[in-house]
Amino acid sequence: MAPSADHAADLGDRRSAGRADPAPIRVALLGCGTVGSEVARLLTEEADEFAARAGAPVELAGIAVRRPDKHPELPQELLTSDVEALVSSDVDIVVELVGGIEPARTWLLTALRAGKSVVTANKALLAEHSPELSEAADVSGADLYYEAAVAGAIPLVRPLRESLAGDRITRVMGIVNGTTNYILSAMDSTGASYSETLEEASNLGYAEADPTADVDGYDAASKAAILASLAFHTRVSASDVYREGIGSVGAADVAAAKMIGRTVKLLAICERVTDPDGSESVSVRVHPVMIPHSHQLAGVGGAFNAVYVEADGAGELMFFGQGAGGAPTASAVLGDLVDVARNRLGGGRGPRESAHAGLPVRPMGDTPTRYHISLQVADRPGVLAQIAQVFAKHDVSLASVRQRDKHSTASLVVVTHAAPDSALRATVDDIGELDVVHEVVSVMRVEGEDS
Ligand code: HSE
Repeated sequence: MAPSADHAADLGDRRSAGRADPAPIRVALLGCGTVGSEVARLLTEEADEFAARAGAPVELAGIAVRRPDKHPELPQELLTSDVEALVSSDVDIVVELVGGIEPARTWLLTALRAGKSVVTANKALLAEHSPELSEAADVSGADLYYEAAVAGAIPLVRPLRESLAGDRITRVMGIVNGTTNYILSAMDSTGASYSETLEEASNLGYAEADPTADVDGYDAASKAAILASLAFHTRVSASDVYREGIGSVGAADVAAAKMIGRTVKLLAICERVTDPDGSESVSVRVHPVMIPHSHQLAGVGGAFNAVYVEADGAGELMFFGQGAGGAPTASAVLGDLVDVARNRLGGGRGPRESAHAGLPVRPMGDTPTRYHISLQVADRPGVLAQIAQVFAKHDVSLASVRQRDKHSTASLVVVTHAAPDSALRATVDDIGELDVVHEVVSVMRVEGEDS
């Protein structure tokens, strides 16, 4: 039953009885593009709602933009191009939506050292400088929140650092870049080449004018570093992440994946690896992967993001949603803002960095992976034996071998069991040198069990 108006009024009277209205929480907004303008709009239009949720008015004290004259739609009295002055003013929270390393790093360090809490969506900065920012926050007792830095609207930072804080996470694997997922999904459905599909994605506005950070995997690698740091209580930076983009994925790879009931995705994979002697390390990587059509991530199409988490107690968890865009990313920013405002009003702070495990990051060459290798080979006795010998030489075990004859050549599709990535790469190199191998059609790592 809905509460009556009288009941609500009573509750309001009791809450305000005996104490002054709390002072507003003053917010500096740095950057006012697609996400920032949505944050500013909602904070202004729904001010009463945010005040009720936070426990005090959440007031925009200033908006820093490069060119105030270019923003006639924003409250002019709030606009400034002097970021340093705004950050150093009497604000409580700095929301950073500018991106890039500098000057964002300097602004946020200034804010944190002065005890102002920070909400940021800056994945590149966090993936490189999270320890420095976290330490500054610890010294002053401020909050550092960054839900919007990974996969836009999808709650991932909070589940990893709070909800699953009592569990042991073994794996975080996901599609964390919408641009590349859009391109790979389109290649899968049309059979078109990578360059044609990228051009179409740019024309439709799904890819940036300079798509390098997305298609070369840098954006996903920053997100993987953040996710791995949270999941494994270990400092992982972007430079620790093995990275391959989607530029080398061709129509032949997409077709080869279909032949074995799989689809190609660019995945961020963060895994806890346990060696036979019980020692643990973490593998953090971003690269194209063939996954079975039955896998939870296979059906995630278009520009959507999804992240799959495995933990000892919780088992399998799947997070899905919009990983970019104004409103979805603003949702994550505003959620952080309300939380940080509540923390300040309550006189406490949210979770601090948890990096006590300090696990080593495993080099890619030592990381166990599985490969799919598709070859055109001569169709005569002894060919399979020669190829099998190369796998044996590198101590790589085969999971499946399929052959189809075509005139004087045969098409051979091999899927391996797990082996160190360096052994698999050496195997592919040696196989390419064999006279009986006419063409190496497709080589790609696989994840998930064959159906
Ligand atoms: N450019 C990213 C993407 C969104 O395509 O998913 C911001 O991280």
